[in-house]
Amino acid sequence: MGGLPKKAQQLIGLREKKNMVLALDSGGLLFKDEKIPADQTQQLTTTAQGIVAAYNRMSFSAVGVARQDLAAGLDFLLALQQKSDFPWLSANLVRRSEGKPYFKPHTLLTINGINIGVIGLTGNQGSDALPSEKDSTVILPWEDVLPKQISLLKGRSDMLILLSSLPAATNRIIAEKHPEIHLILQSGSVSGNLAPERINNTLITQVEQQGKSVGILEVRWNRRSKQWEDDSSKNLLLEKKNELDRLGWLINRYRKQGDPKLVFKDQPETLAAYEAMLAKREKMDQELSRLLGEENARIAKRTQLSSFNYRFEVMRKDLPDNPEVRAIVDATTNEVNRLGKMAAKARSAAGIAHDQMFFPENYAGNSVCQSCHSPQAEKWRNTKHASAYTTLESKGQQFNTQCLPCHVTGAFGQPAEMVLNLAGDLRQVGCETCHGPAKLHAAQPHSNRPGKPTMEICLRCHTGDHDDNFIFPEALARLRCGSL
Ligand code: HEC
Ligand code: HEC
Ligand code: HEC
Ligand code: HEC
Repeated sequence: MGGLPKKAQQLIGLREKKNMVLALDSGGLLFKDEKIPADQTQQLTTTAQGIVAAYNRMSFSAVGVARQDLAAGLDFLLALQQKSDFPWLSANLVRRSEGKPYFKPHTLLTINGINIGVIGLTGNQGSDALPSEKDSTVILPWEDVLPKQISLLKGRSDMLILLSSLPAATNRIIAEKHPEIHLILQSGSVSGNLAPERINNTLITQVEQQGKSVGILEVRWNRRSKQWEDDSSKNLLLEKKNELDRLGWLINRYRKQGDPKLVFKDQPETLAAYEAMLAKREKMDQELSRLLGEENARIAKRTQLSSFNYRFEVMRKDLPDNPEVRAIVDATTNEVNRLGKMAAKARSAAGIAHDQMFFPENYAGNSVCQSCHSPQAEKWRNTKHASAYTTLESKGQQFNTQCLPCHVTGAFGQPAEMVLNLAGDLRQVGCETCHGPAKLHAAQPHSNRPGKPTMEICLRCHTGDHDDNFIFPEALARLRCGSL
């Protein structure tokens, strides 16, 4: 939830500039997965409540119910709905007996005299049935419910939006069959941001999950024609512009510490990557001005159609926070930490001694490595990896199971009890974070060599929302062992 204060500040900025801003979410915002481990339920539901409080502050207009939102049970979401200032929408999550939806199937919003109908559909593509599906609940096929919702709203709305967590391929079929739906915001089944794509008269778009980005879609809607213009050429233009922006941003990162030619003069790989980017930018600049010329010629001929433009913004660390949502996030983070602390206390009260702290399978721990590799250990101690857990302690978050996996060694995917009671030797981002678990190697060094770190290993923690300044070759050059 770290990006929420930034998202809130962005929304305020938009609302100051534009006269009509609608905040919608197609769901999957509360939990990452469809199932949550029992020992994490309290922590994760606390976070979910914080997310809803933040969405209330941001004045969201509607949110779709995705399968992940049901991970803590249908009853949990129904109770949370009572605390939500916005409607949760699902037309197809229904009681098995009477076929009645648990949530509102649609909502009608009126802003600046324009009526916007919003329908919600819950995805049914999960690998296992939801716990409640076994008895009282069923997710109906969209064909059974959507036509009725459309006919209810068609005469009353100038624009129809669908919040869908169905698979991308299904949403395309819906768009082909129902041009009455003008916009589908989808969530979930494929990852990443997807630029709006027009199918007949329906736009489909998606923002990557878990609040890492926001998608801003600016629409000039013509209520009479209710038709999108054919904007494939304009979209291409926009896409190129966005790409160019991203490239510019990347290039600037390389320039942060001064002229890259000097800064990276001993790192030919990094310098080559930088120069390739410069060349690419020059080519793109030329292509863009050609496309711009073509587009201007077309604008002259435009008719009474609706148009849009869009952009995605990554919630980078350096964007400003909204103080009120920051306070909600901080209070939630502290509560999650308090829950972890209580769990750890309960364990020590039960008389479980310090030497019974956990070692995940196949891990040896830093001090073992150090006994044979003291120069590397010496170097490591001077990096921030060696104080990553200490950093959490200094923030009073060392019991927060949502922070710990990235600030210690070997904790990804481990049960909360283990993460909270990790052996001291694995607290901090240690040797085996980069080299992989190496217990076998420590016992028989020559026959079991540890691995070499790859970029994928680093990116597990150095994600855009925690480190927006990560350049692999440069970061590795700074932290690698050995003499380089
Ligand atoms: C008992 C001594 C000993 C311990 C303990 C030990 N190593 Fe090693 N390590 C070695 C030796 C000896 C080599 C050289 C192996 C070879 O060249 O066959 C080596 C090589 C390595 C290499 C280089 C591998 C390569 O392919 O060049 C890495 C990385 C490494 N160790 C990491 C670790 C880590 C991480 C730990 C702690 C989990 C650890 N070592 C514990 C003795 C040890
Ligand atoms: C388990 C999570 C994790 C992994 C995996 C990880 N890091 Fe980090 N890294 C961190 C954390 C957390 C910090 C910040 C620690 C702090 O400031 O307390 C950090 C800090 C850094 C820094 C700044 C350190 C300094 O001393 O200035 C660099 C550079 C870095 N990491 C590079 C890497 C590289 C390269 C890899 C992959 C080979 C990698 N990291 C893998 C969690 C991780
Ligand atoms: C996905 C992995 C990840 C998670 C989860 C994570 N961190 Fe970090 N954290 C990092 C990385 C990577 C860095 C290093 C960033 C850099 O060097 O710019 C870092 C750096 C930090 C820093 C020092 C730099 C700064 O931004 O002030 C603090 C403090 C911190 N994290 C606190 C937390 C807290 C508190 C939580 C839980 C609410 C948390 N982190 C969860 C990966 C993570
Ligand atoms: C940020 C990731 C990272 C961490 C943490 C890390 N290493 Fe390394 N280590 C590397 C890289 C990168 C190399 C060089 C791999 C290569 O190019 O062959 C390396 C190489 C080594 C080697 C081979 C000899 C050498 O010095 O080049 C040994 C031994 C080693 N590391 C031990 C350790 C030990 C012991 C620790 C913990 C005290 C540790 N490493 C922590 C990234 C890391």
